[in-house]
Amino acid sequence: MLSLSVTSEIFPLVKTGGLGDVTGALPKALASFGVSTRTLVPGYSNIRRLIKDQPPLLVFEDLLGEWAALYAVSVHGLDLFVLDAPQLFDRPGGPYVDEHGQDHPDNWKRFAVLSLAAAEIAVGSLPGWVPDVVHTHDWQTALTSVYLRHMDCETPVVLTIHNIAFQGQFSAALLPLIGLPATVMSTDCMEYYGDISYLKGGLTTSNMITAVSPTYAREILSPRFGMGMEGVLNQRKHILRGIVNGIDSEIWNPATDPHLFTRFDQKTIGLKRLNKTDLQNQFGLDNDDGPLFAAITRITWQKGMDMLAEAASEIIEGGGKLIVLGQGDKALEQTLVETAQRYPGRMAVKIGYDEETAHRIHGGADSVIQPSRFEPCGLTQLYALRYGCVPVVSRTGGLAETIIDANDAAMSAKAATGFQFDPVNTDGLRHALRRALEAYASPRHWRRLQLQAMRAHYSWERSAEQYAALYNMLTHRRSPARS
Ligand code: ADP
Ligand code: GLC
Repeated sequence: MLSLSVTSEIFPLVKTGGLGDVTGALPKALASFGVSTRTLVPGYSNIRRLIKDQPPLLVFEDLLGEWAALYAVSVHGLDLFVLDAPQLFDRPGGPYVDEHGQDHPDNWKRFAVLSLAAAEIAVGSLPGWVPDVVHTHDWQTALTSVYLRHMDCETPVVLTIHNIAFQGQFSAALLPLIGLPATVMSTDCMEYYGDISYLKGGLTTSNMITAVSPTYAREILSPRFGMGMEGVLNQRKHILRGIVNGIDSEIWNPATDPHLFTRFDQKTIGLKRLNKTDLQNQFGLDNDDGPLFAAITRITWQKGMDMLAEAASEIIEGGGKLIVLGQGDKALEQTLVETAQRYPGRMAVKIGYDEETAHRIHGGADSVIQPSRFEPCGLTQLYALRYGCVPVVSRTGGLAETIIDANDAAMSAKAATGFQFDPVNTDGLRHALRRALEAYASPRHWRRLQLQAMRAHYSWERSAEQYAALYNMLTHRRSPARS
């Protein structure tokens, strides 16, 4: 089975969050289930370098008025199609924003062109490679299925919702410029409060919609989590499934992690202490025995970073320490930095994006905090489990699903892996932090929690099997004779 995955991010080449981790890890996991994936990605500056001196597979003279060329390259175990259109993708900044943090003004065109190229591949423009199924991710590639339906192509499309807060909503005046007929401007296609929504277009034209955890798949049917898309999702709920993300267990493995000061596993968990000392030195924190909490995250309202700033005192007054690594909302970054200034030696904030430090924090921290207001899946808590950092999380989305709260029943069943709180507010977070501080005060109790956390198993295998089953169902439904 051939699958074309279409994405705006892929680890280790381009990543702003979990989307990149997922699209980077899933193809490898799907290979064991007979799915061969090629991933179409934009030719961002660093990706373009990989195709230097190669002949293109295909040239598109006119994709929405833009010249583009398609290349194939295999790197880091990933088979990529690179869409080279330097005027759209080779520029400073990130995949979505410029170097000043402002959205690229032509994002509407950049991702429409990417989606149109995907549709062209799916309809057979590339001799010798035609996918059986297309897998799109979030609004950036959701238009692919709209184009395919418009081209009368029935290749099945799976759209995965990683975060419904981002919808690709643009002025309806752009419609003629993205090569779609006026008929898509209807409430049962792309029309969204007078604008056009790329995500809605994908939701109404895909054959299957998945969300990155079963809990989130349920939550987005309600106004609180659906962010305006709950109506269309309720109409499409017969094709909506939740499949929880896994982790790349080679990249996130404390026994082999090259970034760690000292590697460890369940048997040598005691060595984690050395990483903790190293980390505390790196961040200028006191080297006492108090528990070291950490957050590695986008600094946004979604991630509850305002609540963490308010609840930091609970940790410090309870004898703990706190490290925050992240970037995002400038005002929230500032609040966290100012909070840390009040607690020298006890709290440190590093603003920025730093993969290696993320690994080292997992290696040394005792607990990772994720007070998200909503969390489609969340990967940080899964990495935390593997590294014996006991997660403190809000009870929502994937966090509710992957962490087992250390209540009495779960402790006596030897199943507990962390601390959950609900309602999701600062008091709830403070209460959960107090529970974690108390648990830490009993070394035996804490060690049990750490080991239970490390035994939790969230590799991609189970989830890839479910995606493969979906692909099979969709392709068989299309042509029953196929083997
Ligand atoms: P989201 O995709 O909503 O940001 P996830 O938990 O799914 O949340 O994924 C976040 C990913 O980004 C994880 O791999 C996490 O380690 C990484 N990450 C987030 N912020 C940073 C940062 N400042 N530095 C390094 N890695 C980060
Ligand atoms: C999104 C979500 C996060 C999820 C990730 C990968 O960025 O916010 O919860 O883990 O996508 O699916």
